Amino acid sequence: MAHKQKLRAGVFDSGVGGLTVVKSLIEHKLFDEIIYFGDTARVPYGVKDKNTIIRYSLEALEFFKNFDIDIMIAACNSVSAYAIPELKANAPFKVSGVIEPGVLALKNKIPNLDARILILGTRATVGSGKYEKLLKAQGYHNIESLAPSLFVPIVEEGLFSGKVLGTVMDHYLKDITSPDAIILGCTHFPLIADAIHHYFPQATLIHSGEAVVEFLESAYNISHIHQHSSLKLFASENPDKLKEIAQAWLKPACYSS
Ligand code: DGL
Repeated sequence: MAHKQKLRAGVFDSGVGGLTVVKSLIEHKLFDEIIYFGDTARVPYGVKDKNTIIRYSLEALEFFKNFDIDIMIAACNSVSAYAIPELKANAPFKVSGVIEPGVLALKNKIPNLDARILILGTRATVGSGKYEKLLKAQGYHNIESLAPSLFVPIVEEGLFSGKVLGTVMDHYLKDITSPDAIILGCTHFPLIADAIHHYFPQATLIHSGEAVVEFLESAYNISHIHQHSSLKLFASENPDKLKEIAQAWLKPACYSS
């Protein structure tokens, strides 16, 4: 991939969560251009079934075929849990999900196989058992999975801190023993990483964005570009809201649409 003049990535999520992956891609200057598509009209994906997630993902693939992208990054764990084989079979470009990168990032950061690992993901991601399967294959055995479904609409509402988030956090997390590592197995969750860290200050957080950067660098030998990445944002509904969140979340210098 490194010899092409301009490297373009298509980044796909059900909503705004994939912007957490975009942030890492921009910070590490991996692509000249990023085309982002958030399926905001149909978010959340994490409560939908496998066939629906695959169908929506293949529709997003058709959207990305309109751009000369080099790779499509499914910046959504729910899509990564179910739709990667179908996307790969139908895409004229490379496709990457975020689950495999997340497991590799965990392995690099937490080599102790006895570590207590908490996976936080959507119902779809947790239900797929994909993280657990890959982690067990690496030798980890103290694994707990939890699907705090209300985190997603809270993030879509932009409630990254405050009372509502606090109450919902208590609802899901108050009985959980502090883990050594937490996989933020939903790309919406890094937006509330401070609150999760506050809850479990000892735990190392694994973030899909950082994981995917590490993975792309090694798997595809992508060399860094030297200027800012440009970003084009698309949403199936209310693109202005997506742009607002992008402006708040990404550094203004990185943002152009
Ligand atoms: N951001 C998505 C994920 O990583 C999904 C949120 C949702 O649509 O439920 O799973």
